[in-house]
Amino acid sequence: MLKDKTIVLGMTGSVAVYKCCELIRLLKKAGADVHTIMTESAAEFVTPYLIEELSQNKCITDTFERVATFDVKHISLANRADMFVVAPATANIVGKIANGIADDMLSTTIMATKAKKLIVPAMNPNMYSNPIFKANVKRLQQYEDYIVMDAASGEMACGDVGQGRMPEAKQIFDFIERNIETDRPLKGKRVLVSCGATQEAIDPVRFITNHSSGKMGFAVARAAASLGAEVTIIKGNTTAEIPYGMNIVGVKSALDMFNAFKAHYEESDYIFMAAAVADYTPLKKAENKIKKTDGDMNIELKRTDDILKFLGEHSDGKRKICGFSMETENLLNNSRKKLLSKNVNMIAANSISEAGSGFGTDTNKMILITENENRELPLMSKDDCALEIVKTLIKL
Ligand code: CTP
Repeated sequence: MLKDKTIVLGMTGSVAVYKCCELIRLLKKAGADVHTIMTESAAEFVTPYLIEELSQNKCITDTFERVATFDVKHISLANRADMFVVAPATANIVGKIANGIADDMLSTTIMATKAKKLIVPAMNPNMYSNPIFKANVKRLQQYEDYIVMDAASGEMACGDVGQGRMPEAKQIFDFIERNIETDRPLKGKRVLVSCGATQEAIDPVRFITNHSSGKMGFAVARAAASLGAEVTIIKGNTTAEIPYGMNIVGVKSALDMFNAFKAHYEESDYIFMAAAVADYTPLKKAENKIKKTDGDMNIELKRTDDILKFLGEHSDGKRKICGFSMETENLLNNSRKKLLSKNVNMIAANSISEAGSGFGTDTNKMILITENENRELPLMSKDDCALEIVKTLIKL
């Protein structure tokens, strides 16, 4: 989602500027071209040389000789930015932007850019609750191209406790990813995504599960959110990092997941069923821990409900549904059978025997199966793959 996007990161004087190192690393890892501007006081906390090392681009600061060299560059940066992020944003820079003051490199470049601007405040709780600061934030929020993130609560570097902390780098990163697309076809739409593995209890200490990490489902959720959707995730057991800012419904068993879907599916416009749901569950869950004996043992299993099939049968064309299919053989035939038997609009199929595909990997090689087409995607990151899956379903 951030591949080949240009992010300009403006940093002002707050101790939270150290979090920008991790933010730049995350943005670079996602394929973004990151350019940076530091106010003089930001450069007191972290050196521009470290920032340059991380971003692999010159860091523009306010010292005059550097301004002279990069004067033209900063206007071209203002033009090139897909998003302009100010993090940490002090009360001072928020006040300047809200009142049209452009008296240094950062405020001048912000004034010159037509890109979407994300302001990430970081300040002492008393400053954060100051009505003048609040009025400046309100003023910025009147303009469509300004987004102001809420500060986090907790203990500040100065020892005060309250709201004013800069959110963590990963939170800012997720926020950028969710807001960078200008084309937002899912604005006002509700998307339901399931992900992760279900756990079927055998007794209070043991369960049957599978290797699903939740990575693909989370990527789909982030992709849908980046296109403007309000996303709810029905989450089984996952090991991948959970995205920020989404409604999460945690479940354990296939039955829990089915109940969660029954409670949420009717209000959704699109469903992506990426969870690896158990097809069988123990006939009985033992109340106490099963003790071993000398002999072997068998566990009797019964079928679970097919959630995707239920959703396909109960949707009457009111929502578009994408199922997922993981196979070790006959990928195309088996997956197309699922498209028909479960009555869904699309199956995103992948073979776990294919290199770079399957559980826990960062990449996937998928075939998007619809009524009239089998579209083979090249090996790509799960994020890119997710965006392709979401865009394909909404176009159907
Ligand atoms: N699925 C479901 N409920 C189940 C089992 C699977 O909703 N009880 C969904 C999965 O989330 C996925 C799709 O059905 O979106 C296909 O799952 P998969 O495990 O590939 O296939 P199954 O239908 O379970 O068939 P099989 O295991 O025989 O391949």
